[in-house]
Amino acid sequence: MPSVTAADYVPPSRDLGDLTAAARACRGCDLFADATQTVFGQGPADARLMLVGEQPGDREDVAGEPFVGPAGKLLDKALREAEVPREPVYVTNAVKHFKFVPAERGVRRIHKTPSRTEVVSCRPWLFAELQAVTPEVVVLLGATAAKALLGNDFRLTAHRGEVLRLPPDDAPEGVDPSVVVTLHPSAVLRGPADARDESFASLVADLRFAATLLTG
Ligand code: URA
Ligand code: SF4
Repeated sequence: MPSVTAADYVPPSRDLGDLTAAARACRGCDLFADATQTVFGQGPADARLMLVGEQPGDREDVAGEPFVGPAGKLLDKALREAEVPREPVYVTNAVKHFKFVPAERGVRRIHKTPSRTEVVSCRPWLFAELQAVTPEVVVLLGATAAKALLGNDFRLTAHRGEVLRLPPDDAPEGVDPSVVVTLHPSAVLRGPADARDESFASLVADLRFAATLLTG
């Protein structure tokens, strides 16, 4: 565990406005240094469904909002197809700053997968968001989000279509959502063209399944 993490910056409040404001000043790992800004989660505090991605991408880093770039467009399309409206959903990421390979001028910066240390350093924000929102159902989009909450050895492909729980000894206190894992929208975009329809369909099916777990 690194000596400084987001835990040093997370306030006691579980008000989303307070958390968002405090996260702007986070220096819990080195990723703040090259990114434009913190991209905190977004959505209503009473959301019953929470989606967790990996980290902001190039567009999100500039806009300051999660899932507004190409992956976000695909996610929106999948949500529409699954008949899950996005406005009542809380959308966030495992890591709140964009990590990238510096690109040539005029070329879109290329995303780099965050390290385990960065994911663990940033996780206190995700725990705080879970406590602020107390969602009934959480969908983890892709391996980074899944490993952030379910452990580094978690294998996403082995557990799709299951209803999982957060590990009791490594989860924020007071929350026990149903957890579903699925593909990351970027994995659909980056995958081989001939597999894209199928992987998109599984993303849609998993989102639809997650929505069926909402009570009432
Ligand atoms: N990919 C993510 O995981 N999150 C975003 O917000 C955008 C792209
Ligand atoms: Fe803090 Fe997370 Fe940004 Fe690192 S990535 S500086 S832990 S908000």
